Amino acid sequence: MTHSPIIPIDIDNWQPSPRTGANWQEMLEGGAVLYCPALRFGLEKGEERFLDASFSDARRKSIYIRADRPGLFGTEVAEPERRGLRAMLERFEAQSMGLLAGLFPGYSGLIRAAGTSYRPRPTGRPEAALSWRKDDTRLHVDAFPSNPTQGMRILRVFANIGTVPRVWRVGEPFEQMARHFLERIPEPRPLVAQLSHRLGITKRPRSAYDHYMLYLHDLAKADLGYQRDSSQLTFAFAPDSVWICFSDQVMHAAMSGQFMMEQTAHLPAAALAFPAQAPLAVLERLAGRPLL
Ligand SMILES: [Fe+2]
Repeated sequence: MTHSPIIPIDIDNWQPSPRTGANWQEMLEGGAVLYCPALRFGLEKGEERFLDASFSDARRKSIYIRADRPGLFGTEVAEPERRGLRAMLERFEAQSMGLLAGLFPGYSGLIRAAGTSYRPRPTGRPEAALSWRKDDTRLHVDAFPSNPTQGMRILRVFANIGTVPRVWRVGEPFEQMARHFLERIPEPRPLVAQLSHRLGITKRPRSAYDHYMLYLHDLAKADLGYQRDSSQLTFAFAPDSVWICFSDQVMHAAMSGQFMMEQTAHLPAAALAFPAQAPLAVLERLAGRPLL
């Protein structure tokens, strides 16, 4: 394929200083996955014991903390393991936010940590009960039914802390994907969106933008022909490496791997230097009208 979405960058510490001439932000906003093969999230003494799938609650895929509410979720373990897991997650959050600040100084003061998770279970073997909608081995952009973003971007930092590669499929550019599915998306229904918000089904009203994003997520995952035939590449993120992308823009599917850390950051659309490349602008262009 001509489109090469994975761009290696040669940094080896979590506090990189801004580099003259580095166009990391432009590549990121253009839909690249920035891959840091020489950057690792180091475990502290005693944390190796957490490299064990049984720490995870059977019903959840991650152990996680959230920026907007206290607590440790997704595990039923007791102290002192809870404290240890929490410390590991908080350290990853701090290092990831430092990394984003160093790589993308243009986002300073606007970017916010949203949540941090650890996935101790192997990826790529979905339980039989898992619906296709939750099957992350299918190519998709991130969009969540209960959590409309209203244009806020989803930026994610991933670290492979296991001993096997984490294998992703990365799909075609956002605009190509959106063009492929656009005509199958029904018109948004603002009254339903308001009602869903009032009933507490969504955290805030689902905008037309969120409506389109959710349909793109679902239509792509449901379309096995698209999953098989669309332009894509398979890439193995090495053990002890880190990668970063806008997961609401990059078509991705996690095929295999075990033991991954993930930091989610939210970024207002106003912080983007190249807003015309963002899903909102692409969809507004294709739909021919404002979606927020
Ligand atoms: Fe995803």
